[in-house]
Amino acid sequence: MSYQAYVFDAYGTLFDVHSVKDTIHNLYPEKGSSISESWRERQVHYFMIRQLIQGYQPFDTVTKWALIDALAMNDVDYSDETIQKLMDQYQHLQPYTEVSRLAENNPDKQLTIFSNGTRPMLQPLLKNNQLTNTFSLLSADDAEVYKPHPEAYQFAQNKLNQQKEEILFFSSNPWDIAGATHYGFHTAWVNRQGVKWPELGLKPTHILTDLQEIPTNN
Ligand code: LAC
Repeated sequence: MSYQAYVFDAYGTLFDVHSVKDTIHNLYPEKGSSISESWRERQVHYFMIRQLIQGYQPFDTVTKWALIDALAMNDVDYSDETIQKLMDQYQHLQPYTEVSRLAENNPDKQLTIFSNGTRPMLQPLLKNNQLTNTFSLLSADDAEVYKPHPEAYQFAQNKLNQQKEEILFFSSNPWDIAGATHYGFHTAWVNRQGVKWPELGLKPTHILTDLQEIPTNN
């Protein structure tokens, strides 16, 4: 059976979350990479906690909290203006190089983003990268349940109106691949850094190094 829908995680899979580090470096010389890594680590940790306590807060709120703590963890001072300047950068993240060719390389496939990001975060990001017409957009914020909770993937499947096995879900984040695989989607882990798959008791359907060569059949 051929896949009918290609569904992509956004942050880390289509867009490089660490493309903000140059802006951070200009504000905090020599600390750009450390703050960027702390920011992403805190962001993931905090939305996981909010999901587990069933206390949903939107991804922009969680991302701002994570940034504040990433700056504090790196012992730097900051102002409200600094926070806003860095949050604005999340609308200007760099897409990975092969993203601009996804539509032309897969003309018969419905391309959808399913992200924990909110629409006010994602729509400008797509517009700023001329990708608005490449993807349809699904946000976990519409359901107020974060990936990797199974209800998040169920929400996406309902919106896509496809059978689970007709959906190929792409993510660079093992936590996201684990959730989508456990829910029943076929999955493709985009392992750009060539690291070991973590011991999670389940495995992705496919492992890719990037999005240039995409499996067409399950
Ligand atoms: C996304 C991030 C959280 O859902 O990976 O796009």
